[in-house]
Order: sequence, then C-alpha cells, then structure tokens
Amino acid sequence: NNPPWPAFRGYHTYSFAYATMGHRLPTILGKAIDDVIETLNQESEEERVVDLVQCIQRMDNLKSDLQEQAKLRPIIDDGEADVALWNKEIAKYFQGKTFMNAPWLFAEAYKYRRLRECFSVSKHWKTYDVFFRQKCDTFSRSNDAVFELSTRFAEPFVHKAELSDTEKLEAERLMFMELTQICLWGNSTDLSLLINMTEEQIKSLQTTGGENLAATEKNILGNDMSRLWEVVRKMRSSTGGRVDFVLDNAGFELYCDCVYADFLIQSGLAKEVRFHGKRYPWFVSDVTKKDWDWLFNMMVHGHLFPKATEQEMNSLRRLGLRWKQYEKEGKWVYEQHPFWCTGYTFWELHNEAPDLFLHLSRSDLVIFKGDLNHRKLTYDCAAPPSTDFEIAIGPMASSAGAPRVCSMRTIKSDVVVGLGDHGDELAEKLDKEEPGWKISGKYAVVLLSEGRPG
Ligand code: F6P
Ligand code: MG
Repeated sequence: NNPPWPAFRGYHTYSFAYATMGHRLPTILGKAIDDVIETLNQESEEERVVDLVQCIQRMDNLKSDLQEQAKLRPIIDDGEADVALWNKEIAKYFQGKTFMNAPWLFAEAYKYRRLRECFSVSKHWKTYDVFFRQKCDTFSRSNDAVFELSTRFAEPFVHKAELSDTEKLEAERLMFMELTQICLWGNSTDLSLLINMTEEQIKSLQTTGGENLAATEKNILGNDMSRLWEVVRKMRSSTGGRVDFVLDNAGFELYCDCVYADFLIQSGLAKEVRFHGKRYPWFVSDVTKKDWDWLFNMMVHGHLFPKATEQEMNSLRRLGLRWKQYEKEGKWVYEQHPFWCTGYTFWELHNEAPDLFLHLSRSDLVIFKGDLNHRKLTYDCAAPPSTDFEIAIGPMASSAGAPRVCSMRTIKSDVVVGLGDHGDELAEKLDKEEPGWKISGKYAVVLLSEGRPG
C-alpha cells in the first residue's frame, strides 16, 4: 500500500532533506538549548535546577546522535499516548536505520519526539515548551497584519439590506475567496524556516488581502479554490456543515485560520468547526493547546502591543471574545489526537488511527494546513508535479469513508503535485529560473479531493 515513487531521505543531496537533517535540525536544537538555559538561569530551587540541567544533558545527547548518525532507538515509555504507535513503527520499518538513511519525514518527526522525551522523563519539566518564547515573540511582532485583520473583521459579517439573493451570494463568494487566501498565506510564517526573523521579514510574509490578492493568486500553482467554494456553498443548504482544520502553526497562522473559521460560522456555511492541534511542541511552531489558549487570552486580556491604539485593541478584544464564545457554545472545538504527533504519513491514517479516520469521515470538509501536513498526505515522495492530488494522497482519497480533503499549503519542501497536465514542464521551468522555488514559501497549492463516502 505504498506509492510507486521513492520517499525523500536525508542523504539525497539534491533534496531539502539533506540541508534539513545536516544543518537545520542541529541549529533548531541549538536554539532550543539556549532557550532552556535562559529558563535555567532564572530558576532558584535546587531540585528544579538539577532536574532541568538533566534535560539539557539529554538534549545535548540528542544533538550528538543527530550529528553522529546514531541508530534510531525506541522511544522510552514516558506515559505519552503515542509511545506504542512510535515503537511499533520503529520495530516494523526502521530498525538499524539512522537519521540520514531513514525517510526524511520519519527521521524529522522522530527528532521532535526525542526532544519531547528529554522533558517528559523529568520530574518538574514534563510539559516544558522550548519553542514557546519564540512563538509568542513572533506574534507580538506581527502587529501590522494582526490589526489590519482585526479592525476589518471585528464587526460581524452582515449583508447590506438592499442586496438581492444573487448579490448576497456573490458577496459571500468574494469574501470566501479572499479569506481562503489569507488563511493559505498565513502558512508562510512557520518558524522552523525563519530562525531570527527581522520585523521586515515578518511583515513581508504576511498577506492580509486587499489589492495584493490578484497578484498572490498567480502564485497558487495548483488552484482548486473555485471548486472549494462550490463545496462550501452547498454545505449551508444541508444544515450548515462541519469543517475540520488540521492545524499547522501557532501565532499568526492560527490567527488567520480563526478569522477564516469565524467567517464560516457567521455566514452559516458551517455550524461547527473542529481544530486539530498537537499534544506537545512539534516542528517548532505547530499549535499546542497552550498556544491556542494563549492566543485568545492575549487578544482579550494581554498587553502584547504597547504601541497599538485604543481602537485597534478594542477590535482585537472583540474578536477574541467572540472566539471564546464559540468555544463555550461548542461551535468551535479543540482536539488533540495522539496520531498527529507520530512519524506515520496519512497513507496509514485509516490503519493506524481508525478512530480518528472514522471521526474525520463524518466531516464535510477537512482542511490540512501547511507544508508538513502536505508531506504527510502525499507520503513525502518524488511524485511528478503533474500527479493528480487524489492519486498522490492514496488511501486518504480512495479508502471507503475517506473524507473530503483540502490541502492549503505554501510550498516549503520538495514534494509538489496537483499542478495539472503541464505541471512537469512548469516545474522544470521554475527549477531553471528560480532554483529555490520549492522552499521559499512564495508559491502555494490549494488542492481538493472529494473523498469516498463509506
Ligand atoms: O523541515 C522541513 C519542514 O518539515 C517542511 O515541511 C517545512 O519547511 C517546515 O518543516 C514546516 O512547515 P509547516 O509549518 O508549513 O508545516
Ligand atoms: Mg508547522
């Protein structure tokens, strides 16, 4: 049940896997150690200090394992709900493999699981998030884009009274198309690629609609947005649909996802939105429950933006309050299934997490955000760019009960599919003209699979 194309591996020097395994991951780990040292230096109780020093030692060991090509060992039973899933996969497929010769997707995920283990076996630091400071800090430096959206969307979405039904529908369609792009481009700000971003770099990555939209739409190389609108439009005529977001990054991307989900609820297109996050820190900036709560509480009560005007702060508060209310009413639900933090691709989702598969199959639309989710959907293998999305995601499109799936992803790694019949030529042209096009986040795809009712 595997795709016919080879999965990328760390020793593939032509792929981003090579730079990631050789350079990016050790750098990320080094920065994580700096963060823990900062925490350590502000700690006073001996038992907690000694405990944290041991966490740092374990991180140092992990860094050496990574750089010295150690064999991938089983995960220690630290009580996490995913230990059995991890060790089954290691025993079945990766015995004797190293960080470099195991598939990149697995090896990279395994690194984040081992990082988790550095803390989960401690006494006082089990839930410590080495990336939390970075996530909060980047959001607090995203003020321009944050307020552009809050001042525009704090006021609930209502139609002008004089509009006909056709005009109302058209107004909704336009809003949907714009917000889909805002949600999509929110994915450019993942922190695993942008270590030490400047204010200017953050700003240049944050698309908030307006005149830019037509220009940015040209960069969506596989674009099923119109089909997506048709799907969403029809959801309302039933009883209002259920939409699931398999979240990617915290901070600004999550904020954009929420603006989008807010519109889906207000317009009556969806009656329920389920957000799927991670149980622990993952790929630097992915959303955990703590990040989710932090965002809403900072919006309502926080002092993140000292230079903001009263009107800007009010708009942010109103949005935050509305979102908290959705959560109270059960219109928005946050979930965190253990499967999302494993090394499995989504080709195995129906086998390895049948409960989750069944749960998702009851949704009208499952939106997978971001690059990593896209890699997992497509098995992270060298499929030709002209490959149909449905073919590339295998069982997530073809098994009985497969939900309707949409991947919204800015392109930040090697696998690219769904570019249409001339996709291979287009990719070749870009390879020649813009060699870094697959990792820059400048290009994107919005791809849809209809799924298969069970
Ligand atoms: O290390 C590569 C990667 O896994 C790529 O998928 C991407 O560059 C980044 O890490 C995560 O991106 P995202 O947050 O969009 O999943
Ligand atoms: Mg991410």
